[in-house]
Amino acid sequence: MKILAIESSCDETAAAVVEDGRTVLSSAVVSQIEEHRLYGGVVPEIASRRHCESIAAITEEALQDAGLALHDIDAFAVTYAPGLIGALLVGVNFAKGLSLASKKSLIPVHHIRAHIAANYISNPRLTPPFLCLVASGGHSHIIEVMDYTRFRVIGRTRDDAAGEAYDKAARAMGFPYPGGKEIDRAAKRGDPSAYSLPRPQVDGSPYDFSFSGLKTAVINLLHNAQQKGEAVNRDDLCASFQQTVCDILSEKLIHAATAFGYRTIAIAGGVSANSGLRQRIESECEKRGWQFCLPQLSLCGDNAAMVGCQAYYEFLAGYTAGLDLNAVASMAVDEVEFF
Ligand code: KG4
Ligand code: ZN
Repeated sequence: MKILAIESSCDETAAAVVEDGRTVLSSAVVSQIEEHRLYGGVVPEIASRRHCESIAAITEEALQDAGLALHDIDAFAVTYAPGLIGALLVGVNFAKGLSLASKKSLIPVHHIRAHIAANYISNPRLTPPFLCLVASGGHSHIIEVMDYTRFRVIGRTRDDAAGEAYDKAARAMGFPYPGGKEIDRAAKRGDPSAYSLPRPQVDGSPYDFSFSGLKTAVINLLHNAQQKGEAVNRDDLCASFQQTVCDILSEKLIHAATAFGYRTIAIAGGVSANSGLRQRIESECEKRGWQFCLPQLSLCGDNAAMVGCQAYYEFLAGYTAGLDLNAVASMAVDEVEFF
């Protein structure tokens, strides 16, 4: 079954053709990041406009790269939640148009489910159940993937997402948006024990995260040094920040896996591209003899291949939508509603 998938939830317009959930026939992505960088973050109105301009061309590119025509496609899939509402609406309406014109099914896909599904592409033998850490610009979750379409959130952030903490700390350190990648690069040159940063815990919720205190600690450290006229070694601060985030994410993930009896671990979302996090969780899993799965770097950030992959399993479970499908800005991964 060939699914043409569309993704437009934030600042990437993407289209892909995926066969039977696991074989990516094409994956085209156009990023708007250069324009949003001017403003230090994603500007929702600009994002919607750029999606409108790019979506037809990127869909055409995905079809061409796959060597297919529209009539070869068996169903259309689209990210419909969560995300920027105006941005999501562009993809949802475009996919509805394709579905209506082609008289083929429309499959709504939750963005976080799609990020998790990126692992099925990079790890062809991975099947549920497993435990997945999803860390991106908008989300930090520990999720039980009980089946392809059954999820349970056992840990979540109480304030900032991990990627958001990276981006805000990076901004304070003078890096361009989005700074996660920049911190990752600089951290490789620094000493992770140079600065001591807080590791906030959430009382009574051992699997929940809190990153805003860590971000504030970096900002305060920089302000205090500036007021005293002291120099801050940016590489050392990046290395210390990265080590702290990796400690927090990996410790809670391993703790949760132990408590809930999971021996297969996956990571997903933009922050799963982080070199420190990848190495750290890999070595923790190796020590315990657990299986560790992670998406290839090109599938960590937003893309439509992961949407096409998850869509196949949503379709098999009977989750298709009509033309009354709407975009939804906020929706939990384990409380998916289709209308
Ligand atoms: O999944 P994604 O592309 O978009 C959302 O759904 O949010 O994630 C983007 C986030 C940004 O915060 C970005 O800084 C972060 O992922 N990111 C990284 C790295 N690459 C991207 N964070 C840390 N290290 C990286 N190498
Ligand atoms: Zn994402």
